[in-house]
Amino acid sequence: MEREGKVYVFDHPLIQHKVSLMRMKETSVKEFRELAQEVAMLMGFEATRNLPLKDVEIETPITKTTTKMLEGEDIAIVPILRAGLGFVDGMLALVPNAKVGHIGLYRDPETHEPHEYYCKLPKDVEKRQIFVVDPMLATGGSAVAAIDFIKQRGGKNITFMCLIAAPEGIRALHEAHPEIDIYIAAKDDHLDENAYIVPGLGDAGDRLYGTK
Ligand code: PRP
Ligand code: URA
Repeated sequence: MEREGKVYVFDHPLIQHKVSLMRMKETSVKEFRELAQEVAMLMGFEATRNLPLKDVEIETPITKTTTKMLEGEDIAIVPILRAGLGFVDGMLALVPNAKVGHIGLYRDPETHEPHEYYCKLPKDVEKRQIFVVDPMLATGGSAVAAIDFIKQRGGKNITFMCLIAAPEGIRALHEAHPEIDIYIAAKDDHLDENAYIVPGLGDAGDRLYGTK
C-alpha cells in the first residue's frame, strides 16, 4: 500500500481488479453492488489494522492460555447517503457489532456544494472509532461536511474510506481535517467541468441503485 502522510492508496491486486470492474460502464447494478461490498471488506481489513487489542484468558480444548481480542467493539460505521450505503454490509461483515450512523448529503448539481438532509449518529459517538464511508471523494465537500457534523457531535477518532478519489478532494479533506487517516482504493486524475471524477466510474449512487 502506498502511503503519503495520512493518505493510504491500496495497491492490492484484488482491489485494483474489482475497482476496474466497477468502472466499466457495462457492469450491471447487481454486480456493482456486490463488488462494492467486496472492496469494502478488503479495504476494511486494512483500515481496521490499528484497532486496540487486550489480553484475555481463555481455555482451549488442550490448555488455558492468554490470547488477544479486540479491546472494545466501540466502532461506528457512518455512510454518507446514499452511495456510502454500498460499503456498509462489507464493513459489518468484519465488525458485526459496530453501530451504524447515517449522514444524508447531496451535492447541488450547479454549485457542487453539499446539502445536509439527515444526520443520526450513535449516542456515544465520542467513545467510538468511526469509519466514514463513501465511494467517491470528488471536490471533497461532502466528506469535509460529514466529518464536520461528526466532530460537532463529539466524534474524535475518525477514519475516512472511499473507492475513488480526485487529487482535489484529497487535498480539501486533508486541509480541513489533517489528523484523519484517508484510505483510498484508487487515486484518479482530475475533475471534469461538472465536478465528476475522471476517469472515475460515473455517479456512484446511480450505479448502486439503478437510478438516473
Ligand atoms: C456523491 C458521492 C459523494 C459526493 C462526492 O454523492 O457519493 O457523497 O458525491 O462529491 P464531492 O466530493 O464533490 O462532495 P451525491 O451527492 O451524488 O449523492 P448520492 O450519494 O445520493 O447519489
Ligand atoms: N459523485 C459521484 O458519484 N461521482 C463522481 O465522479 C463525483 C461525485
